[in-house]
Amino acid sequence: MDGNGRWAQMRGRPRLFGHQAGARRVREIVEACPDLGIRYLTIFAFSTENWRRTQVEVAGLMTLFRRYIQKEATALLDKGVRVRFIGDRDRLDPKLVGMMHALEEITSGNDLVNLTVAINYGGRDEVARATKRLAREVAAGRLDPEDVDAETLAHFLDTCLLPDPDLVIRTSGEARISNFLLWQSAYAEYEFTPVLWPDFTAAHFAEIVGNYSARERRYGAVLS
Ligand code: IPE
Ligand code: MG
Repeated sequence: MDGNGRWAQMRGRPRLFGHQAGARRVREIVEACPDLGIRYLTIFAFSTENWRRTQVEVAGLMTLFRRYIQKEATALLDKGVRVRFIGDRDRLDPKLVGMMHALEEITSGNDLVNLTVAINYGGRDEVARATKRLAREVAAGRLDPEDVDAETLAHFLDTCLLPDPDLVIRTSGEARISNFLLWQSAYAEYEFTPVLWPDFTAAHFAEIVGNYSARERRYGAVLS
């Protein structure tokens, strides 16, 4: 969800104004998923690198996450959305972590759209944390190092219950991965759009998904 800051700047407003506008975009995009045949949507809300922003912006974003959960919980529940969070919760405010957990619990019976929100998430950090858990299993004698393969490691990732992404969309004209689902995106298709996230509509979303559908995916094989 990139481009909130620039969107605000273009209007002569503080960055948080852009983040608020960005948060309001999420509902339309989530609601567009069923018609587009999308059952899993992951949105990148805050990265492990975003702590480097000013204290005002970080605190503003954390407040925004709490407000978002408070405001959207009922609508998400009613619309059949199951919410999950990925990322390291240890550095987050316990109150926010409690709200995240509660939202996961109350929506756990839903299955129409699986929305995953990445907060304090970084692909490298996730692999490092997964490796730590895996090493603990080895140290405890519950796992033989000889049995460790890619699937074993994937089992320890935050995303262990989620399918790998088919398509990764980055808004705002940046053409970088920026630590997003590094492991999981091995065979993902990428789409980049110049549209800033607060301007990103269901129509933009549908157009990009349409481009994706036209691509041929080979997964390293040769298709005749
Ligand atoms: C939102 O956009 C991403 C978040 C960390 C919430 P940015 O804040 O990165 O916006 P730009 O890139 O400065 O325009
Ligand atoms: Mg940015």
